[in-house]
Amino acid sequence: MKQQIKQLACERDALLIAHNYERDEIQEIADITGDSLALSIEAEKTDKQVIVFCGVHFMAESAAILAPDKTVLLPRTDAGCPMADMVTAEGLRELKRQHPDATVVTYVNSSAAVKAESDICCTSSNAVSVARSVGADKLLLVPDRNLGRYIAKHVPEKECIFWPGYCPTHDRLSVEEILQAKAEHPEALFMVHPECRPEILELADHICSTSGMYDYAAQSPAKTFIVGTENGILWRLRKDNPNKEFITPSRCLVCPDMKLTRLEDVLRCLETLEPRVTVPEEIRRKAKLALDKMLAVPRD
Ligand code: 13P
Ligand code: SF4
Repeated sequence: MKQQIKQLACERDALLIAHNYERDEIQEIADITGDSLALSIEAEKTDKQVIVFCGVHFMAESAAILAPDKTVLLPRTDAGCPMADMVTAEGLRELKRQHPDATVVTYVNSSAAVKAESDICCTSSNAVSVARSVGADKLLLVPDRNLGRYIAKHVPEKECIFWPGYCPTHDRLSVEEILQAKAEHPEALFMVHPECRPEILELADHICSTSGMYDYAAQSPAKTFIVGTENGILWRLRKDNPNKEFITPSRCLVCPDMKLTRLEDVLRCLETLEPRVTVPEEIRRKAKLALDKMLAVPRD
């Protein structure tokens, strides 16, 4: 099936993109794997006509916003992001009415309609730089309260208002689980995603996006790492660093949405060129402004 997919992708002039949390076999067939920011950039710059986005809905939407002339396919329409669903455009408009002087900084884990209501987007790999780049003294940080608190810590001069959303997968990670993993592996470094709760981030040696973890693991002289993010990341960490050990501190670090896409879904969507992800033009234009502003900010 992997060979069939590769051949059909070639015939369809399709780029296969997979997020770092996808199943091992999906990452294996992908032309590009990466974090949300890297994948958005790849989607924008590819000259392929079709983008098969193995990830969740908001990621494919970002590709459709940035590359409107391309056919963007999401192999599983039911692959969503519960955190992105925790904020609506109407809800955000109401918060903006309460804080008319604030700048809205929205995590890319959000719908196109929410991005369209935002001043600038951010991802986990550029969140602090984006917040620093904003001139305003008051920020509305949407929708992740954990990423919001992480940002706020780095811009103490700004007033920050948090939307109360969270990632159910990352928010579950407990202090006890980390202390237990550290006790079992006292030599290990702990790297963690900023979607985890503040008390977990306090225990970290390094806080970064999923792709930031690949760089950190490769560059560090350490041999053992406790990995505080979704377990899909372990496949490439282990492949790229065969002499290092990667420990997952919790059995709960699984995002069910990221595990939905299977090889047969990718094959079917290449055969049918469905399901497509599109964004109404008026929303797309406004959402693109927020994404473009983010892409113009130098990375952390
Ligand atoms: P990254 O941007 O770090 O890949 O994170 C995306 C995500 O959904 C994390 O839960
Ligand atoms: Fe959304 Fe969390 Fe899954 Fe990332 S891991 S896609 S934030 S539910």
